[in-house]
Amino acid sequence: MRQGHVDEAYTDAEFAGLYDAENPWHPMDDFYQRLDLAAASVLDVGCGTGTRLARTREVGHRGRLVGVDPAEAMLAVARAKTEAVEWVRGDAQTLDLGDRFGLATMTGHAFQLLLDDAAVRAALASFRRHLVPRGLLAFETRNPAARPWERWVREETLLEITTPDSEPYASWVDEPVAHDGDLVSFAGTIRSLRTGLERTTRNTLRFVDPERLGTCWPRPASRWRAGSVTGTPRRSRRPARR
Ligand SMILES: C[S@@+](CC[C@H](N)C(=O)[O-])C[C@H]1O[C@@H](n2cnc3c(N)ncnc32)[C@H](O)[C@@H]1O
Repeated sequence: MRQGHVDEAYTDAEFAGLYDAENPWHPMDDFYQRLDLAAASVLDVGCGTGTRLARTREVGHRGRLVGVDPAEAMLAVARAKTEAVEWVRGDAQTLDLGDRFGLATMTGHAFQLLLDDAAVRAALASFRRHLVPRGLLAFETRNPAARPWERWVREETLLEITTPDSEPYASWVDEPVAHDGDLVSFAGTIRSLRTGLERTTRNTLRFVDPERLGTCWPRPASRWRAGSVTGTPRRSRRPARR
Protein backbone atom coordinates (compact mmCIF):
# COMPACT_ATOMS: atom_id res chain seq x y z
CA MET A 1 0.00 0.00 0.00
CA ARG A 2 1.50 3.32 -1.02
CA GLN A 3 -0.11 5.18 1.86
CA GLY A 4 0.82 8.83 1.90
CA HIS A 5 1.90 8.98 -1.75
CA VAL A 6 -0.09 11.48 -3.82
CA ASP A 7 0.63 12.07 -7.49
CA GLU A 8 2.31 15.36 -8.43
CA ALA A 9 -0.70 16.09 -10.64
CA TYR A 10 -2.45 17.04 -7.37
CA THR A 11 0.36 18.22 -5.08
CA ASP A 12 1.87 20.70 -7.54
CA ALA A 13 0.33 24.18 -7.76
CA GLU A 14 0.74 24.53 -11.54
CA PHE A 15 -1.03 21.23 -12.25
CA ALA A 16 -3.67 21.89 -9.59
CA GLY A 17 -4.33 25.33 -11.09
CA LEU A 18 -5.27 23.67 -14.40
CA TYR A 19 -7.61 21.09 -12.90
CA ASP A 20 -10.86 23.06 -13.19
CA ALA A 21 -10.19 24.15 -16.76
CA GLU A 22 -9.56 20.53 -17.72
CA ASN A 23 -12.50 19.19 -15.76
CA PRO A 24 -15.55 21.41 -16.16
CA TRP A 25 -18.90 20.61 -14.50
CA HIS A 26 -20.18 17.25 -15.71
CA PRO A 27 -23.46 15.25 -15.53
CA MET A 28 -21.80 13.15 -12.82
CA ASP A 29 -21.59 16.28 -10.68
CA ASP A 30 -25.35 16.75 -11.06
CA PHE A 31 -25.83 13.15 -9.90
CA TYR A 32 -23.76 13.66 -6.75
CA GLN A 33 -25.21 17.09 -6.10
CA ARG A 34 -28.73 15.63 -6.00
CA LEU A 35 -27.45 13.29 -3.27
CA ASP A 36 -25.85 16.26 -1.46
CA LEU A 37 -29.10 18.17 -1.44
CA ALA A 38 -31.00 15.20 -0.01
CA ALA A 39 -28.48 14.74 2.86
CA ALA A 40 -28.32 16.68 6.12
CA SER A 41 -24.51 16.70 6.02
CA VAL A 42 -21.89 15.72 3.43
CA LEU A 43 -18.29 14.50 3.62
CA ASP A 44 -16.50 14.56 0.24
CA VAL A 45 -13.19 12.68 0.42
CA GLY A 46 -10.72 13.34 -2.39
CA CYS A 47 -12.62 16.60 -2.96
CA GLY A 48 -9.83 18.03 -5.12
CA THR A 49 -10.56 21.63 -6.04
CA GLY A 50 -13.94 21.43 -4.30
CA THR A 51 -16.17 22.54 -7.16
CA ARG A 52 -19.13 20.35 -6.26
CA LEU A 53 -19.39 21.17 -2.56
CA ALA A 54 -18.83 24.85 -3.26
CA ARG A 55 -21.78 24.82 -5.68
CA THR A 56 -23.87 22.67 -3.34
CA ARG A 57 -23.49 25.45 -0.77
CA GLU A 58 -24.22 28.09 -3.41
CA VAL A 59 -27.50 26.45 -4.41
CA GLY A 60 -28.68 26.46 -0.82
CA HIS A 61 -27.51 23.46 1.23
CA ARG A 62 -27.63 24.62 4.85
CA GLY A 63 -26.02 21.68 6.64
CA ARG A 64 -22.40 20.76 7.32
CA LEU A 65 -20.24 20.34 4.21
CA VAL A 66 -16.69 19.03 4.60
CA GLY A 67 -14.21 18.47 1.77
CA VAL A 68 -11.11 16.39 2.50
CA ASP A 69 -8.02 15.97 0.33
CA PRO A 70 -4.38 15.05 1.01
CA ALA A 71 -3.08 17.57 -1.58
CA GLU A 72 -2.66 21.09 -0.22
CA ALA A 73 -2.38 22.50 -3.76
CA MET A 74 -5.87 21.20 -4.62
CA LEU A 75 -7.27 22.46 -1.29
CA ALA A 76 -5.81 25.91 -1.98
CA VAL A 77 -7.95 26.13 -5.14
CA ALA A 78 -10.98 24.94 -3.15
CA ARG A 79 -10.41 27.47 -0.36
CA ALA A 80 -10.26 30.29 -2.90
CA LYS A 81 -13.77 29.32 -4.07
CA THR A 82 -15.54 29.57 -0.72
CA GLU A 83 -15.05 29.66 3.02
CA ALA A 84 -18.59 28.34 3.51
CA VAL A 85 -17.33 24.74 3.23
CA GLU A 86 -14.83 23.19 5.68
CA TRP A 87 -11.69 22.17 3.76
CA VAL A 88 -9.55 19.64 5.61
CA ARG A 89 -6.25 18.05 4.71
CA GLY A 90 -6.56 14.29 5.11
CA ASP A 91 -6.29 10.87 3.52
CA ALA A 92 -9.20 8.48 2.90
CA GLN A 93 -7.31 5.64 4.58
CA THR A 94 -6.60 7.33 7.90
CA LEU A 95 -9.25 10.03 8.20
CA ASP A 96 -10.82 10.35 11.64
CA LEU A 97 -12.82 13.54 12.07
CA GLY A 98 -14.66 12.23 15.12
CA ASP A 99 -18.00 13.07 13.53
CA ARG A 100 -20.64 11.40 11.36
CA PHE A 101 -22.35 12.48 8.15
CA GLY A 102 -25.50 11.57 6.26
CA LEU A 103 -23.61 11.22 2.98
CA ALA A 104 -19.98 10.45 2.18
CA THR A 105 -18.64 10.58 -1.38
CA MET A 106 -15.45 9.83 -3.28
CA THR A 107 -15.80 11.07 -6.84
CA GLY A 108 -13.89 11.63 -10.03
CA HIS A 109 -11.30 8.90 -10.03
CA ALA A 110 -10.28 9.55 -6.42
CA PHE A 111 -11.27 6.01 -5.41
CA GLN A 112 -9.00 4.61 -8.14
CA LEU A 113 -6.06 6.26 -6.37
CA LEU A 114 -6.45 3.61 -3.64
CA LEU A 115 -3.97 1.27 -5.24
CA ASP A 116 -4.51 -2.06 -3.47
CA ASP A 117 -7.04 -4.02 -1.39
CA ALA A 118 -5.50 -2.86 1.89
CA ALA A 119 -5.95 0.78 0.87
CA VAL A 120 -9.55 0.14 -0.22
CA ARG A 121 -10.36 -1.69 3.04
CA ALA A 122 -8.82 1.09 5.13
CA ALA A 123 -10.84 3.72 3.23
CA LEU A 124 -14.10 1.76 3.53
CA ALA A 125 -13.52 1.33 7.27
CA SER A 126 -12.91 5.07 7.55
CA PHE A 127 -16.11 5.83 5.63
CA ARG A 128 -18.02 3.56 8.00
CA ARG A 129 -16.63 5.54 10.99
CA HIS A 130 -17.91 8.75 9.42
CA LEU A 131 -21.47 7.72 8.51
CA VAL A 132 -24.59 7.98 10.63
CA PRO A 133 -26.72 4.81 10.87
CA ARG A 134 -28.32 4.28 7.43
CA GLY A 135 -25.95 6.89 6.00
CA LEU A 136 -24.98 6.62 2.34
CA LEU A 137 -21.54 6.22 0.75
CA ALA A 138 -21.46 7.01 -2.98
CA PHE A 139 -18.33 6.54 -5.05
CA GLU A 140 -17.32 5.38 -8.48
CA THR A 141 -14.61 3.25 -9.98
CA ARG A 142 -14.39 2.43 -13.66
CA ASN A 143 -14.90 -1.09 -14.90
CA PRO A 144 -11.67 -2.53 -16.36
CA ALA A 145 -13.78 -4.42 -18.92
CA ALA A 146 -14.30 -1.11 -20.77
CA ARG A 147 -10.49 -0.82 -21.31
CA PRO A 148 -10.60 3.01 -21.40
CA TRP A 149 -6.79 3.24 -21.48
CA GLU A 150 -6.91 2.14 -25.13
CA ARG A 151 -8.04 5.70 -25.95
CA TRP A 152 -5.36 7.37 -23.83
CA VAL A 153 -3.32 8.68 -26.75
CA ARG A 154 -2.31 12.22 -27.54
CA GLU A 155 -4.84 12.76 -30.35
CA GLU A 156 -7.75 11.64 -28.16
CA THR A 157 -6.76 13.53 -25.03
CA LEU A 158 -5.30 16.83 -26.30
CA LEU A 159 -6.98 19.86 -24.73
CA GLU A 160 -6.30 23.58 -25.12
CA ILE A 161 -7.32 25.37 -21.96
CA THR A 162 -6.96 28.70 -20.22
CA THR A 163 -6.40 29.16 -16.50
CA PRO A 164 -8.58 31.60 -14.51
CA ASP A 165 -5.71 34.13 -14.79
CA SER A 166 -5.74 33.77 -18.59
CA GLU A 167 -2.65 31.58 -19.06
CA PRO A 168 -3.04 29.37 -22.15
CA TYR A 169 -1.99 25.73 -21.89
CA ALA A 170 -2.20 22.49 -23.83
CA SER A 171 -2.45 19.17 -22.01
CA TRP A 172 -2.50 15.59 -23.16
CA VAL A 173 -1.72 11.99 -22.21
CA ASP A 174 1.20 10.29 -23.88
CA GLU A 175 1.74 6.66 -24.67
CA PRO A 176 2.88 4.20 -23.56
CA VAL A 177 0.33 3.29 -20.92
CA ALA A 178 1.89 0.70 -18.60
CA HIS A 179 0.10 -2.16 -16.84
CA ASP A 180 1.07 -3.91 -13.62
CA GLY A 181 -1.74 -6.24 -12.60
CA ASP A 182 -4.78 -4.00 -12.16
CA LEU A 183 -2.64 -0.83 -11.97
CA VAL A 184 -2.53 1.40 -15.03
CA SER A 185 0.15 4.10 -15.27
CA PHE A 186 0.31 6.91 -17.76
CA ALA A 187 2.15 10.16 -18.37
CA GLY A 188 0.25 13.44 -18.40
CA THR A 189 1.94 16.46 -19.97
CA ILE A 190 1.14 20.15 -19.79
CA ARG A 191 2.69 22.81 -22.04
CA SER A 192 2.49 26.50 -21.38
CA LEU A 193 1.51 28.06 -24.71
CA ARG A 194 3.09 31.31 -23.55
CA THR A 195 6.56 30.03 -22.59
CA GLY A 196 6.61 26.69 -24.43
CA LEU A 197 7.72 24.97 -21.21
CA GLU A 198 6.50 21.41 -20.78
CA ARG A 199 6.08 19.34 -17.63
CA THR A 200 5.13 15.69 -17.38
CA THR A 201 3.80 13.71 -14.44
CA ARG A 202 3.43 9.97 -14.11
CA ASN A 203 0.11 8.88 -12.60
CA THR A 204 -1.23 5.48 -11.55
CA LEU A 205 -4.85 4.36 -11.25
CA ARG A 206 -6.27 1.06 -10.12
CA PHE A 207 -8.96 -0.64 -12.20
CA VAL A 208 -10.29 -3.07 -9.64
CA ASP A 209 -12.49 -5.90 -10.80
CA PRO A 210 -16.04 -5.32 -9.45
CA GLU A 211 -16.21 -8.78 -7.83
CA ARG A 212 -12.91 -8.25 -6.08
CA LEU A 213 -14.14 -4.90 -4.82
CA GLY A 214 -17.08 -6.74 -3.24
CA THR A 215 -14.64 -8.82 -1.17
CA CYS A 216 -13.15 -5.64 0.34
CA TRP A 217 -16.38 -4.58 1.97
CA PRO A 218 -16.26 -4.43 5.79
CA ARG A 219 -17.90 -7.31 7.70
CA PRO A 220 -20.49 -7.66 8.98
CA ALA A 221 -21.61 -6.64 5.54
CA SER A 222 -22.87 -3.17 4.91
CA ARG A 223 -25.47 -3.16 2.20
CA TRP A 224 -23.92 -2.08 -1.04
CA ARG A 225 -25.23 -1.91 -4.54
CA ALA A 226 -23.17 -1.50 -7.68
CA GLY A 227 -24.81 0.56 -10.38
CA SER A 228 -23.88 2.52 -13.42
CA VAL A 229 -24.43 6.14 -14.23
CA THR A 230 -24.24 7.07 -17.84
CA GLY A 231 -22.61 10.23 -19.09
CA THR A 232 -19.95 11.29 -21.47
CA PRO A 233 -16.50 10.76 -19.98
CA ARG A 234 -14.40 13.87 -19.74
CA ARG A 235 -11.30 14.21 -21.76
CA SER A 236 -8.60 14.96 -19.29
CA ARG A 237 -4.91 14.58 -18.60
CA ARG A 238 -6.25 12.50 -15.74
CA PRO A 239 -7.88 10.32 -18.37
CA ALA A 240 -11.65 10.12 -18.42
CA ARG A 241 -11.85 10.70 -14.72
CA ARG A 242 -15.59 10.15 -14.74
C1 LIG B 1 -9.19 13.34 -9.98
S1 LIG B 1 -9.19 14.23 -8.47
C2 LIG B 1 -10.93 14.23 -8.13
C3 LIG B 1 -11.35 15.47 -7.42
C4 LIG B 1 -12.85 15.63 -7.21
N1 LIG B 1 -13.39 14.56 -6.42
C5 LIG B 1 -13.58 15.76 -8.53
O1 LIG B 1 -14.44 14.93 -8.80
O2 LIG B 1 -13.27 16.70 -9.27
C6 LIG B 1 -8.58 13.04 -7.33
C7 LIG B 1 -8.30 13.63 -5.95
O3 LIG B 1 -8.07 12.55 -5.05
C8 LIG B 1 -7.08 12.98 -4.14
N2 LIG B 1 -6.47 11.80 -3.47
C9 LIG B 1 -5.38 11.10 -3.84
N3 LIG B 1 -5.12 10.12 -2.96
C10 LIG B 1 -6.09 10.22 -2.00
C11 LIG B 1 -6.35 9.52 -0.79
N4 LIG B 1 -5.60 8.49 -0.40
N5 LIG B 1 -7.39 9.92 -0.04
C12 LIG B 1 -8.19 10.94 -0.42
N6 LIG B 1 -7.98 11.63 -1.56
C13 LIG B 1 -6.95 11.28 -2.34
C14 LIG B 1 -6.11 13.77 -5.00
O4 LIG B 1 -5.29 14.62 -4.21
C15 LIG B 1 -7.07 14.51 -5.92
O5 LIG B 1 -7.39 15.78 -5.42
